[in-house]
Amino acid sequence: MTDGERQAALQQIANEVRVCTGCRLHQQRTRSVPGEGNPDTEVVFVGEGPGFNEDREGRPFVGRAGALLVRLLASVGWRREDVFITNVVKCRPPENRDPMPDEIAACAPFLQRQLQVLDPALVVTLGRYSMATFVPDARISQAHGTMRPVDPATGAPDALAFAMYHPAAALRSTDIEQASVRDMAGVPLALLAARDRREQHAAEFAAAPAETAAPAEELAPAEELAPAEELAPAEELAPAEEPAPAPEPPAGNAPDAPAAYLPAAAPVADVPRAIPAIRAADAASAAPPAHAVLASLADAETPTDQLTLF
Ligand code: URA
Repeated sequence: MTDGERQAALQQIANEVRVCTGCRLHQQRTRSVPGEGNPDTEVVFVGEGPGFNEDREGRPFVGRAGALLVRLLASVGWRREDVFITNVVKCRPPENRDPMPDEIAACAPFLQRQLQVLDPALVVTLGRYSMATFVPDARISQAHGTMRPVDPATGAPDALAFAMYHPAAALRSTDIEQASVRDMAGVPLALLAARDRREQHAAEFAAAPAETAAPAEELAPAEELAPAEELAPAEELAPAEEPAPAPEPPAGNAPDAPAAYLPAAAPVADVPRAIPAIRAADAASAAPPAHAVLASLADAETPTDQLTLF
């Protein structure tokens, strides 16, 4: 998919979200909030649902929780316009209550389609409801700061999910705020791990047909090839890309952390697509003291004209 096609596909989804009446949340919304960011990014942040400010502006994470998210991103040298930010539900639950299962289900196809289009290497989940979409059966108190393979049924074809607390929870608790700074320091590492994994899958995929390919002289002449409409649907094509099983947690990791593992040291990599260069020294540095980091970062708002809005 070209950049232009990706942008057009995201725009189409956003247009549908804006007029959606698929669940009760549309009745009280001011504006729905499809999501925004870089259509060419490798990293998608998924929150829970719009709050008061997001409902008024039609943009995700523009209130106090959003300001903290921007500062957390800045602590690893990233900006919100480097990533894509969206939510599990696209309309504000009244009084900021938790989204209900039927509301999440009604909205799920939008997130699935966004992930299919973006094809991120890394999905960063913000809070319990987002985590439950990608890392079912985990407890956030154990899973935050860890990652595991994403089920392609979520829409992301080949991604790792990295769990974080919701920034709103970090605003309420100093402990969670500090944990969030430490967790965010692991996000660039998680991206490196996710890239490695995708490269490995691509290499496996490239190698597989060579083993089974018919010798050249047995290939059917072009006119005997099946017309395009008779080709097997994508999901029937070999090789089946099973998500890799989660590696064993390294020693010292919480023994009951379900199939999750902490990011291991990763090699320096040149950074394709839209993420700023990751330097191993930055990514692997010890967790910075939370308040030093947060206090030193300007509470900068991203100028809207630098964002791709959907
Ligand atoms: N909280 C969320 O989960 N999403 C937003 O967009 C804003 C606050």
